[in-house]
Amino acid sequence: MSLRKAKIEDYKLLYKNFWSDEKGWKFMLWRPIKNLTSAKEKVKEIVEKQKTSPRFVVVQKNDEPIGIASIILRDDGSVKDFAVGIGSNFTGKGYGYEISKALIKYSFEILNQDEIFGACMTEDKHTHKLLKKLGYREIGISPKSYTRNWDGLAYQKIKFSMTRDEYLKRERKEHRFLWLFKKKKV
Ligand SMILES: CC(C)(COP(=O)(O)OP(=O)(O)OC[C@H]1O[C@@H](n2cnc3c(N)ncnc32)[C@H](O)[C@@H]1OP(=O)(O)O)[C@@H](O)C(=O)NCCC(=O)NCCS
Repeated sequence: MSLRKAKIEDYKLLYKNFWSDEKGWKFMLWRPIKNLTSAKEKVKEIVEKQKTSPRFVVVQKNDEPIGIASIILRDDGSVKDFAVGIGSNFTGKGYGYEISKALIKYSFEILNQDEIFGACMTEDKHTHKLLKKLGYREIGISPKSYTRNWDGLAYQKIKFSMTRDEYLKRERKEHRFLWLFKKKKV
């Protein structure tokens, strides 16, 4: 699995492998894509946006698109959140973790952020666990309630943060562990 820039012709497989899969919509904020015409429009939008902000397509070894991964930036260039989604046939295999780790690395090492943020709906236990596993610090539950714009669902957010120091500390720990592991194997 890897991340690459989107191409217009990705729309058919993105629709087949991800967007046509209703299971994936449960906790997503972006509007569901319900046919190939909308999928093509969405990929055109991604191709346009990736010129100025980090948008990627998640592909398998054979370059088959299975999902998307975006870093959502505020107007001042700071990282507001990530949007990651893959088809349900591909979940639970560690891809979400690897994709998010790559986006965290990109945020700190390419975009030079001092702090990044993340959020998930209070009911989204899967993403909540994923964010904790990635090393995010839970800030708390947003006091206000939000409304999802495409179906009126009322939800609350759990907000997360990670500072550059926290990121570097974790990276050092991971490298130390890998080094010890390699040393043991020799
Ligand atoms: C959120 C999403 C990207 C996670 O991807 P994934 O490939 O399934 O995640 P991973 O396999 O890397 O799992 C990472 C961790 O998440 C947690 N997790 C995975 N599957 C889970 C499940 N079914 N229930 C609860 N937690 C789960 C675990 O902590 C897991 O780590 P562990 O296996 O070491 O315990 C994926 O489920 C998805 O695309 N969902 C649809 C889109 C969406 O809702 N995106 C989030 C909101 S924008």
